[in-house]
Amino acid sequence: MDTLCTVAECNECDFSKLSEKPRSLNMDRERQRSFDERSLSELSIGFSPRVMTRSADNANANANFSRLVIDHNPDAPFSPGRRSGFNTPRSLIGYEPHPMVGEAWDALRRSLVYFRGNPVGTIAALDSSEEELNYDQVFVRDFVPSALAFLMNGEPEIVKNFILKTLRLQSWEKKIDRFQLGEGVMPASFKVLHDPIRNTETLIADFGESAIGRVAPVDSGFWWIILLRAYTKSTGDSSLAELPECQKGMRLILSLCLSEGFDTFPTLLCADGCCMIDRRMGVYGYPIEIQALFFMALRCALVLLKQDDEGKEFVERIVKRLHALNYHMRSYFWLDLKQLNDIYRYKTEEYSHTAVNKFNVIPDSLPEWVFDFMPIRGGYFIGNVSPAKMDFRWFALGNCIAILSSLATEEQSNAIMDLIESRWEELVGEMPIKVCYPAIESHDWRIITGCDPKNTRWSYHNGGSWPVLLWLLTAACIKTGRPQIARRAIELAESRLLKDSWPEYYDGKLGRYIGKQARKFQTWSIAGYLVAKMMLEDPSHLGMISLEEDKQLKPLLRRSHSWTF
Ligand code: GLC
Repeated sequence: MDTLCTVAECNECDFSKLSEKPRSLNMDRERQRSFDERSLSELSIGFSPRVMTRSADNANANANFSRLVIDHNPDAPFSPGRRSGFNTPRSLIGYEPHPMVGEAWDALRRSLVYFRGNPVGTIAALDSSEEELNYDQVFVRDFVPSALAFLMNGEPEIVKNFILKTLRLQSWEKKIDRFQLGEGVMPASFKVLHDPIRNTETLIADFGESAIGRVAPVDSGFWWIILLRAYTKSTGDSSLAELPECQKGMRLILSLCLSEGFDTFPTLLCADGCCMIDRRMGVYGYPIEIQALFFMALRCALVLLKQDDEGKEFVERIVKRLHALNYHMRSYFWLDLKQLNDIYRYKTEEYSHTAVNKFNVIPDSLPEWVFDFMPIRGGYFIGNVSPAKMDFRWFALGNCIAILSSLATEEQSNAIMDLIESRWEELVGEMPIKVCYPAIESHDWRIITGCDPKNTRWSYHNGGSWPVLLWLLTAACIKTGRPQIARRAIELAESRLLKDSWPEYYDGKLGRYIGKQARKFQTWSIAGYLVAKMMLEDPSHLGMISLEEDKQLKPLLRRSHSWTF
């Protein structure tokens, strides 16, 4: 099988800026602000086609791109109640950047990957002391925090290059042995091959056919769409998303996940290891990470898709799916004290539409830890829901994305933050933040991971602490108006990350130890820190990666108010 692919050079861009240090905060602030204020006002626009139809006043914008047009009223006040994050003092008059910030920018720039002279991404890790495996590649998911850092710093070119390059890779024929993968699959990663003799460069991509475990990355396509919106939002340049090839790329991704099948649920069925947790970890079925990213990508696509003949049909399918997905997730994945108590008292073997225990979950299967873990105030989206099976583990990425995409209602978002605060020791400890909680051990570890020596308890994907998740935590904190939680987490990271050379992950119940096989100079640990810092400094950056609740998707489930157990 030939996985080698040459990708045509992209349009000329100005790359000179990429070798610069970060721009001065003040210099960028003015420029950023004009985008951000526009971005913020868009946040209040719902995503249904009806709401998004452009008013006649906006006549000079592209008619097909109405949903990106923002009815900007510069005088409209923000509502402090809802978006208190934005009222965080732009504290930063006289703000002295932490010394780590400069170091992080230097390290991030060293990780740039060039293709025919143009930067197209960042390498996963620049650690020569460990075996490279695939850490010398540009991963789609890993590039997201790098991309956000560059966008926030007013350097969108690399992001545009990345979007276009990965789009070209998507169009390659993808095969595993004799089986052909779906047209829309985006690569997990790619790398540039140099041929010193012929003096040529080619790209090679991995769609899962080289990956350990041979799983296609379901998350890559979702991140790609989310990034396209972030780019559009941050630059105000809708021309990239409007390109016919970008529209087609989106439609291909959407075709994969909106296709009809035997499903009885609107959630997306997937194999183990198809996302950030890319090894067997019992995250097959309907893992929260994929469902939350799916929801967010659908919402972003709705904003980006043109309403032309081809796009229209997708818009309709997306709207239907979002309604169903929203209902399903809020109803069945949500867990708080009341819901836990209800499950604990479930009757089983109920038949027909009157069943309360629809998935026939046997209360005896409730793990003991969850009763202690559940605070009186707080809640979260559990890891997985499928017939007779609920995975009660808490996952950081899925819960943060649920907040950012407004898959979680405002009440649920607050409850997730309440839980993080009251279970700080368990979820954050000494290094933000655990990829999931708790770890699986002993017999469960053997059965669930297949005796994976990399994923022993409290290590790596099995309860390890991942600094990259700091940017997601910070974004969630800002969105819910709790920047102080992010500050606390960032302080913890600042006490270790540089000294420890930006590890990929930490191990142990408290996240005290540099991970067993953690790479150093892991790029997304570096970029995640920078994004967290920049968002805290200027919370209006949040608009790039956050969507407000759509008023048409009314909260269907209310957080329980019976706090006494
Ligand atoms: C590990 C992580 C994966 C990441 C990759 C590159 O495989 O599990 O999420 O994309 O490393 O950093």
